[in-house]
Amino acid sequence: MPENLGPLTAFRQKVASGEIQPDSAQELAAERLQEMWRQLIDYDPQPTQTKPRFSLFGRKKNPDQPAEGTTGLYLAGEVGRGKSMLMDLFFDLAQVKRKRRIHFHRFMQDTHARLHAMKKEMKGGDDPIPPLAREIAEKSALLCFDEFQINDIADAMILGRLFQALFEQSVVIVATSNTVPDDLFKGQPGRDAFLPFIDLIKKFMDVLVLDGGRDYRRDRLAGLRTWYTPLGASARASLDEAFSRLADRDQISPRHLTVQGRQLDIAVASEGLARFEYAALCERALGPGDYLAIATHFHTVIIDNIPRLTADEFDRARRFITLVDAMYEHKVKVIVSAETTPDDIFTEGLGSKAFERTASRLIEMQSARYLELQHLT
Ligand SMILES: Nc1ncnc2c1ncn2[C@@H]1O[C@H](COP(=O)(O)OP(=O)(O)O)[C@@H](O)[C@H]1O
Ligand SMILES: [Mg+2]
Repeated sequence: MPENLGPLTAFRQKVASGEIQPDSAQELAAERLQEMWRQLIDYDPQPTQTKPRFSLFGRKKNPDQPAEGTTGLYLAGEVGRGKSMLMDLFFDLAQVKRKRRIHFHRFMQDTHARLHAMKKEMKGGDDPIPPLAREIAEKSALLCFDEFQINDIADAMILGRLFQALFEQSVVIVATSNTVPDDLFKGQPGRDAFLPFIDLIKKFMDVLVLDGGRDYRRDRLAGLRTWYTPLGASARASLDEAFSRLADRDQISPRHLTVQGRQLDIAVASEGLARFEYAALCERALGPGDYLAIATHFHTVIIDNIPRLTADEFDRARRFITLVDAMYEHKVKVIVSAETTPDDIFTEGLGSKAFERTASRLIEMQSARYLELQHLT
């Protein structure tokens, strides 16, 4: 068996070459991935056209089943622990002809679109989930999902049945997630109906929690400049660079947060990271609830083009104060381009006195000590 071609060897080589630091939690995960990698060599199950005969929770007697019945791995852990890095290592090396790695958010969008189209083609009352699962299984015997999460009840209802059908089709699923299965969709209305899906995940996927306690992403923030002034091409380029450095391989896409029943659209974001124009944050009718949602959802926020505020711009200044307070209280890391330094942003007029505290917070938020603090969600 060519053990030396697997993810464990690749992981150790990265450590040996100094590309990454040794991390025993990651090494354990790499060992588990190595085992799975070995079980999946030349894995090539054929999707069944008929309804499968085996019982869902019984182990399937199928010669296509990978050795030792691997059906899935769920890599959980907080941001920056190396989940995506490890999964990518595994995925790149997997000797499986039909394999696919996709950001989960993207997969969900595709799924909704596909279900919508299928319902149109089908007779009323027909269930589109089994044919969809077959379609997916034909293309992929191994599916790797980055940043698995459940956003709303519509997703939750579809996913339970879709995953069940995929497992029945012998699709092996590997996923990374910031949430352990038991905490998925926690505290959301309708969660009870969702519990069987959690049981299904736990039944079919080994859950591995990756937490060496070290946020490597935060390490990359250390030493990064966070306040770029004056405005201009150079400041913009610096923020571009900071953004791509922090987003790294994560998918960049619009996100939507639900705030008091409304939808707040965030145009540019990746996992835990968002980028805004100052105007989109403080020149629109956003309130404390919106800023709070942003502060709890994102560990790092990049803000372009903060202007100097004139004496008659109290409204904008007030929004900016609320925004900074929310960021500060939740220890969000903020990287900005601004017309001037924090002390000179709002110096005259109503509320300018209150702004002094904001300026002082903004200065503190640039300190190495602040940048090392844990994000409070
Ligand atoms: N052991 C390590 N040493 C150094 N850098 C690491 C290590 N593990 C991960 N990283 C880097 O830290 C960043 C975050 O890792 P990532 O896999 O994206 O984390 P997660 O998916 O858990 O949020 C990536 O740039 C990754 O290459
Ligand atoms: Mg990740």
